[in-house]
Amino acid sequence: MRYTLPLGSRPFGPLCIMPQMEVVELEPRPTNRDNRLYGASELSGLGRTVHQSQRRPQHNQDPDHDAESTVAVFPDELDRILEKLVIVVPCKDEPVDIIRGVIAGIPSRCAVILVSNCSHQHGENGWEAQERMLAGFCAWGREGCFVHQQYPGAAMAFKEAGVPEILDTASGRIRNGKGEGMYLGIAMAKSYFPHHQYIGFIDADNRIPGSVVEYCKAYAGGFALAQRSAAKSGTEREDVMVRISWASKPKYSASTGRIEFVQQGRSSRIINSFLNRLFAKAGQQDEFITTGNAGEHAMTMEMALKMRMANGYAIEPFQYIEPLLRNKISSANLPNASQTTRVVQIKTANPHLHRETGDEHIIKMWAAGLGALYHHLLGLDSVSGLGTTTLATLRKDMHRFALQNGAIQAQEELPRPNIYPSLDNADLDSFRDVLGEPCSGHVYGGLGFYGLVDQAWASSGTNSPASQSTLEHDSWGDDDQRSSASSEEEPEVLSDSSKQGE
Ligand code: GDD
Ligand code: MG
Repeated sequence: MRYTLPLGSRPFGPLCIMPQMEVVELEPRPTNRDNRLYGASELSGLGRTVHQSQRRPQHNQDPDHDAESTVAVFPDELDRILEKLVIVVPCKDEPVDIIRGVIAGIPSRCAVILVSNCSHQHGENGWEAQERMLAGFCAWGREGCFVHQQYPGAAMAFKEAGVPEILDTASGRIRNGKGEGMYLGIAMAKSYFPHHQYIGFIDADNRIPGSVVEYCKAYAGGFALAQRSAAKSGTEREDVMVRISWASKPKYSASTGRIEFVQQGRSSRIINSFLNRLFAKAGQQDEFITTGNAGEHAMTMEMALKMRMANGYAIEPFQYIEPLLRNKISSANLPNASQTTRVVQIKTANPHLHRETGDEHIIKMWAAGLGALYHHLLGLDSVSGLGTTTLATLRKDMHRFALQNGAIQAQEELPRPNIYPSLDNADLDSFRDVLGEPCSGHVYGGLGFYGLVDQAWASSGTNSPASQSTLEHDSWGDDDQRSSASSEEEPEVLSDSSKQGE
């Protein structure tokens, strides 16, 4: 991958946010001007290079994208990271063919965890079919795991791990929500892929498998560049998060009858504008933050375990302020809290085409995203250098926006997100003991492992359960049982046009 060089990172206490880099070449060829061949460390300073703009572009060369203003990561370096990357795909009722396209785009070096909250078990698009589809991929050598969010064993595993917050009090199952699915994905990744160092997320409703390939490679490239930068500056440990924004989001416009390639989604536009006020430089707002809502993002495993996570669609915006919040409480008692968190923002070359959603969904996303920020901004001035007055005004404006745009009613507060504890504090040995040994190809009604060779089980023995698991893995998820499970928000039925056979 070749990217534009990001210049002008902004530090906010323990958080260092890099300006967006753009993918300019997907499969670059090393040139004698490239970082690999000379001056590797000079060009890899991520914002600290002195070469950029000091040289005149050659004839016919795009001045914005010549070798000196770009930085490249080559396939061997990408592959080394992809081998250690677990991709979690949260899904619900997407047609299996669409989810298949997403899995098809994930480089086969990566492990895959499909976390489904599909509303039904049987039929061509039920969760059994999702599971079979993943098993089919893994038969070609990929490592994978399927888990249903309502699988009773997963709820029991969290209970044993000391994380009852994630359970719905009425049903006793894991709560519905994308954030909750991702949280389960992280716990599964740590438990069953203990040697993987990175974890990434990709939505299941993506219609362009080629863009999925790019997201994964962009994650790997972002980690590689962060590593180079850390090595150069002598930083020993850093939490790194790579967040994706897209070249465009194609949308059909009924008024023009055309596909329009808009830059930002309706939800991202709003969340980013508030984050840009929050993270403005010297009070000057610009388009520095482009990834406030990035559903597609990845982080070091260490960071994923350390972060507290917000529920549902609040999860991504909350990640921007969690490092600041951690630091605030850390002084008190969180170990490692003062470690720097680097945010790498990458704009892909591919567009992002996914399921169209209605206004009501977008309004809910505004409320969730703004609520995640609104309730946690107070007191951040002391750790980040953000002005107290700015924070107060920002909160007021968020509330006003939500009110004026129907995201909340008069006298109502923005929704306060559920915040789930960092998994570092959970007893993941017990979590794993409850779910049992990964047995390749074995499917226990809602939980399946494929092509998985878990050295930790084989070698350590210390935390391995004596038998498969303490659970009885009966099939649980017949449709009636599933629909009677009480929950805060039932998975909605997709209005995807392909479902209606259009
Ligand atoms: N496991 C699980 N559990 N998955 C879920 C759940 C759940 O309760 N709810 C949603 N998902 C899955 C969906 O099936 C889909 O694959 C993915 O999460 C994203 O959900 P969408 O409903 O398609 O979200 P969106 O397209 O409106 O928003 C996406 O993009 C935003 C940025 O534009 C999400 O990724 C947002 O989180 C993101 O902020
Ligand atoms: Mg979507």
